[in-house]
Amino acid sequence: MTGSHEVTGSIPVSSTKPNPPFRGNVPSAEARMRRPGRIAVVMVLTAALSKTVPAAGDATSGAAVYKAGRCSMCHQLGGVGGKMGGVLDGVGSKRDAEFLRKIIKDPKSVDPKSRMKAYPSLSDKDMDDLVAYLLSLKAAPEKK
Ligand code: HEC
Repeated sequence: MTGSHEVTGSIPVSSTKPNPPFRGNVPSAEARMRRPGRIAVVMVLTAALSKTVPAAGDATSGAAVYKAGRCSMCHQLGGVGGKMGGVLDGVGSKRDAEFLRKIIKDPKSVDPKSRMKAYPSLSDKDMDDLVAYLLSLKAAPEKK
């Protein structure tokens, strides 16, 4: 029994050891709690940015998406195409990426009376490319 007393007696000795590391343990435990939160915030920000940064798309591929989507049935570019949807020349100087995505995916979310065809099933890549293409259509400088 004296042996067990010696063991318990040694506890205060060893419990003085955890004290200095204990200080370090508190911040690291906090850090463990904080890190996932920080990562989540970064992920949300990254996701938000990737949706609004138009440079993600490739305008040359976007021209092919424009063709494949038959946008020209209703829209004119350089005098070619249908008249119902209006001229898209210079639309890149007039509209931003957010607006373009909205009107292409769901025109009625822009105007409930919209007569434009909706393209809800375009892939993310096709949408990025198409938007990059439209944004590249800057207003021509005044002809002299
Ligand atoms: C069925 C005809 C039709 C088709 C097909 C069509 N649009 Fe439209 N679009 C319209 C009409 C009509 C408008 C005018 C606003 C409205 O009614 O929503 C419009 C408006 C737009 C606008 C807004 C122009 C502005 O500055 O206000 C953009 C951009 C646009 N269309 C792009 C496209 C693209 C890109 C495609 C092909 C993926 C396409 N449209 C296919 C009919 C069409």
